[in-house]
Amino acid sequence: MKALILVGGFGTRLRPLTLSFPKPLVDFANKPMILHQIEALKAIGVTEVVLAINYQPEVMLSFLKDFETKLGIKITCSQETEPLGTAGPLALARDKLIDGSDEPFFVLNSDVISEYPLNEMIKFHKSHGGEASLMVTKVDEPSKYGVIVMDDSTGKVEKFVEKPKVFVGNKINAGIYLLNPSVLDRIELKPTSIEKEVFPKIAAEQKLFAMVLPGFWMDIGQPRDYITGLSLYLNSLRKKSSSKLSTGPPFVGNVLVDESASIGEGCLIGPDVAIGPGCVIEPGVRLSRCTVMRGARIKRHACISSSIIGWHSTVGKWTRVENMTILGEDVHVGDEVYSNGGVVLPHKSIKSSILNPEIVM
Ligand code: GDD
Ligand code: MG
Repeated sequence: MKALILVGGFGTRLRPLTLSFPKPLVDFANKPMILHQIEALKAIGVTEVVLAINYQPEVMLSFLKDFETKLGIKITCSQETEPLGTAGPLALARDKLIDGSDEPFFVLNSDVISEYPLNEMIKFHKSHGGEASLMVTKVDEPSKYGVIVMDDSTGKVEKFVEKPKVFVGNKINAGIYLLNPSVLDRIELKPTSIEKEVFPKIAAEQKLFAMVLPGFWMDIGQPRDYITGLSLYLNSLRKKSSSKLSTGPPFVGNVLVDESASIGEGCLIGPDVAIGPGCVIEPGVRLSRCTVMRGARIKRHACISSSIIGWHSTVGKWTRVENMTILGEDVHVGDEVYSNGGVVLPHKSIKSSILNPEIVM
């Protein structure tokens, strides 16, 4: 079985992290976002993943080469010379996706995180006999997404409306599809939106079906949602494989610490914290609802909440970082500084406080 991951886009909403790496390589719960998806695909027997990409393919491929051998899965790139939207890339990768077989293939948005119940989706797809299946999930704010109106008993999709201006319903497209090869015959090789131009037509022919995604779901392409997504992810890890989470003092709630990170005496860490490889957390540090990425150092008595600390950054002694502060790669915040929602571009040094949310260039 094959799969295509839509990797394009500049990830502008996740800057400054995406100034250093393409969005799919930004760490989430201590590993690049895209690895969560590739591992889930591998687990249900997918043998080849095609990355549909229009930005920095070299970085992606050189990074993923290691994982090809480690995971035993083929990873190839289908590179656009102009952004082809969410459907055009499928036409471009046509030969890689079907190569003669009539088997359905998966398509995933690269910035969503969930428990990936892909086996359930295969069963569902076989059961309804339609042309395409998608996963839906319920959200409070449906207008940012593609909204689906469906028959709850059969799963048949009656309507697919991308980013509706008026309320249509609260079930939204979760960005996980299983498509028959015939869907490719509907897509031309030009910039096309699968949400606006392809799904509505399949729905009109009554061949589009949706299943409600069991478990949690989040689009983590924006900082606030990224932090909420981490809390949902850790909560699901608690239920499924709690041994991966840290226990006992200094931890409270769900905390994921890479084994190569070091934690000093007298810290208080949690809930909802991820500490990446090689991080150094000095004594007396307080961390809650935050991500500290690979190679970062948090100095004595610093306090961090609701924030993301980018790769190899440092946070000074007695410094307080909060309210959606995002430090890009290799940012150095001095001692006794306060950051209230500062968004700091890579390689900057911060010596004075950021009192209100602002971008520091
Ligand atoms: N290769 C390629 N080329 N990929 C692209 C392009 C492109 O031109 N444009 C976007 N993508 C990729 C993005 O990287 C992402 O993985 C996926 O397509 C969806 O694009 P987003 O920009 O993240 O869209 P969205 O979040 O506003 O909406 C989509 O996702 C929602 C769920 O998170 C839609 O699919 C909605 O219907 C859905 O509800
Ligand atoms: Mg998105």
